[in-house]
Amino acid sequence: MPTFKLDGKDIPFEPGESIIKAASKQGIEIPHYCWHPGLSAPANCRMCLVELMPAANQRAMMLDIVEWDPKLGDYKNVQKPKLQPACQYPATEGQEVRSDTSAHVLEARKHVQEFLLLNHPVDCPICDQAGECKLQDYWLEHQKTPKRMRDEPVHKSKAVVFGPTIVYDGERCVMCTRCVRFMEEVAKDPVLDMRERGNLNEIFVAPGRQLEGHYTFMTEHVCPVGALTTKDFRFKARVWFLRTAKSVCQGCATGCNAHLDFDPRYNKAYRYRPRDNEAVNKHWMCDEGMLSYRAAHEGRLIEARLGRKASSVDKAVADAKKRLSDVPKESIAVVLSAQHSLEDNFAFRELARAMGTTSLYWSGAGTGYADDILIDADKNPNTAGVKELAGSAKTYAQLLDDVRASRITHIVALGGITPRSEPEDATALGMVGTLVVVASHEGAFSDASHVLLPATSWAEHSGTYVNKKGLRQIAEKGLEPQGASRPAWEHARALAKALGVDIGFTKLKEIRTALIGVGAPPPSAAQVAPAQTPAARP
Ligand code: SF4
Ligand code: SF4
Ligand code: FES
Repeated sequence: MPTFKLDGKDIPFEPGESIIKAASKQGIEIPHYCWHPGLSAPANCRMCLVELMPAANQRAMMLDIVEWDPKLGDYKNVQKPKLQPACQYPATEGQEVRSDTSAHVLEARKHVQEFLLLNHPVDCPICDQAGECKLQDYWLEHQKTPKRMRDEPVHKSKAVVFGPTIVYDGERCVMCTRCVRFMEEVAKDPVLDMRERGNLNEIFVAPGRQLEGHYTFMTEHVCPVGALTTKDFRFKARVWFLRTAKSVCQGCATGCNAHLDFDPRYNKAYRYRPRDNEAVNKHWMCDEGMLSYRAAHEGRLIEARLGRKASSVDKAVADAKKRLSDVPKESIAVVLSAQHSLEDNFAFRELARAMGTTSLYWSGAGTGYADDILIDADKNPNTAGVKELAGSAKTYAQLLDDVRASRITHIVALGGITPRSEPEDATALGMVGTLVVVASHEGAFSDASHVLLPATSWAEHSGTYVNKKGLRQIAEKGLEPQGASRPAWEHARALAKALGVDIGFTKLKEIRTALIGVGAPPPSAAQVAPAQTPAARP
């Protein structure tokens, strides 16, 4: 692979790659605002300027400038090298590039910073971006001087509602056009643009339109400063109190990689942000996925129930045992769930085996909107995982048919959610003699349950999900288990123990070992990381 030198270090690059991209792949950040790894490079912020050293037989391109000489007490004519934007300049074999080691570059960064902050309101104490703002970070790294301008700054529109999800603050905007380019290049809906000139520049929404659709949250995510905020996260939390877990979106079969940001003091999730993965979601998530972090708290089942009455977990397990003992094995159905992890599904498949029933079914959410950007019609995170474990399992519709025909009289179901919840389905579920449900979220199964055991959600335990491409991905634990909930595989083990059958495992580690060899290889250790402080935005 060809290489160039950046501050004396060899940097490999793919032909055609920009200097900034090649450097960022090596974990070296060249300061930038307008560049984003997933978007085109307009080179308009000038923060990424670097010095390109001439080859032995070449002359450097120099610019005539005037410089203040304190000894002379006057300006004098000098020359300085013409700096180039690293975001647009392609890397070339053997090129020597100076970034942090060039006095000219350091000087330029300082001035770009000062220029960008001339009219900036500096309302960091009430800005949602504070703590993860590039203006703040780069001021500290590359400027560190107080504001010199004493004039009234230019005022622009504030708190402009761009649409149902996004609010714009013109005074905080650095006109990087990342939001404009995202809507045009990724969302394929060029609804944003820039108007006016110079310090009157503003981002605006096309007349007669609003910023809407399935990818509006991404405009806020790519904004390097606090100019775009989501109505959902605005004024809700300070980011330095948040911790993050490497998660996987549960919204559909795409399995977008995400950061789940939560406040450990309140055991509360506050937002989802995309986690870069070129093979799955690149740098993006859809709006439905970004809001799906709410499912960590909404629609949850966190207490055991016997019918509609609250119960302890132990009592519920004892009741399940009573109801399932001495029942003909072929009348008992075990239902897997595409909403739950591979580990949970494995545990229930093993429970079925231990109980001696071969009547396996699977359930989960139904289908919905799809596009050719990210969103899949299958609204389950683990359909492929269930198919790996039990390819011949029958569908929810077949389960209801078998119940109506009295072939199935007892059900042990993982997951509360079903593909549909029509009145006639509820009537069929009402015919079941015993319905034992282990679930994290409410649904038709939990509504009709005789015994309910509360399971931890994907946010409260480490679990593996197989996306539609067959990729196994781990969603790490962020929150502590809520209420009496515990991992569904633990409930499966408790049920097996109560029924006096051997389920074959006692620990998560044993389940994971058993899963090696079933379908795709297990996720690498790199995909498993402990909760950490939120990662910097690109
Ligand atoms: S709103 Fe944000 S992303 Fe859009 S141009 Fe302004 S600073 Fe850039
Ligand atoms: S495309 Fe699917 S997996 Fe990705 S963010 Fe949206 S709902 Fe989540
Ligand atoms: S990042 Fe290169 S000019 Fe903006």
